[in-house]
Parts: sequence; C-alpha cells; structure tokens
Amino acid sequence: MKKLISAYLLLFLAAPLPLMASDMVETRKANFKQNAAILKAVRDQVSMGKWQELADGAQKIADWANDMPNYFPASATSRGALPAIWENFDDFKDKASANHQAALVLRDAALSQDGEAVMGAVRMVGGTCKSCHTSYKAN
Ligand code: HEC
Repeated sequence: MKKLISAYLLLFLAAPLPLMASDMVETRKANFKQNAAILKAVRDQVSMGKWQELADGAQKIADWANDMPNYFPASATSRGALPAIWENFDDFKDKASANHQAALVLRDAALSQDGEAVMGAVRMVGGTCKSCHTSYKAN
C-alpha cells in the first residue's frame, strides 16, 4: 500500500514538469527582476529609516535564493541561462546558497537598524549576484 501511494505521488510530481518549463522561466525572470528592484530601493530605505521594509526585501531575496535551483530543471532552457548551469549544477547551487547567506546578513543588519552594516551587506549581496551571473547568465 505504501509503495502504491509513493508511485502515485511520483507520477503526480513528475508528470507536470515538462509542461511547466516555460512557466518556470517566466517565474524565475520575475523573481530576478524583483531582486533588482529590492536592491535598488535600499539606499532610500536606509535614509528614511524604513528598516522593516528593508528587512522584508532581504528576506525575499533569501527565500528566492533557496528556491532558485528548483526553477532551473534541465528542461527549462532559455536565452538568458547558459548551458554551463546544468554542467556544473552543484556549483550553481553553491552560488545560490552564497546569495541566500548574504541576504540573511543584509536582513539582520536592517533589523539592527545599522545603516553602515546595511550598505556593506548590500555590496556583499550584489557580489553574490554578480558571481553567479559571470558564470551562468547570458548578457
Ligand atoms: C545562482 C545564480 C544566480 C544568482 C545568485 C542570481 N542570479 Fe540573476 N540570473 C541568473 C540567471 C541564470 C539568469 C537568467 C535567467 C533566464 O533568463 O532564464 C538571471 C537573470 C537575472 C536578471 C534578468 C531577468 C530577466 O528579466 O531576464 C536580473 C535583473 C537578475 N538576474 C538580477 C539578479 C540579482 C539582483 C541578484 C542578486 C540579488 C541575482 N540576480 C542573483 C542567475 C543568478
């Protein structure tokens, strides 16, 4: 019985994937655009003391970094995603994880309302975006 249930679960999980590849590309692009908008807002948020809003944005970047590898199945190719992603998927995941960690540092700096620490963490986050783009994003 357990086996049967797992088989059904597997079917349920595996079947829709190929159909969803283009949705995945659209969703990941939307999340990346959101990342850029979040980082762009930081300087103003610091000068206006909008710490909670800043922290929420950083948390969104961190959450997306966690999900990111799931939005890059080998079937979801795109003009912007270099084939190297799927040749070095462990490294791709490491770079997403570095992005996640840096975003958490940014969140904590925002929660401690430390503008200088925030600006330092933003540079760190930006570095982790760039480090992945250099290897895996087409220009
Ligand atoms: C682990 C890898 C990785 C990380 C980390 C990453 N990106 Fe990307 N990014 C990509 C890839 C790959 C694409 C191309 C996706 C596609 O076109 O299918 C992309 C695309 C984009 C795009 C273009 C979206 C579009 O509409 O075509 C923007 C903007 C962007 N990223 C911003 C960011 C920002 C800002 C960060 C950091 C906060 C970030 N990315 C972190 C891999 C990454």
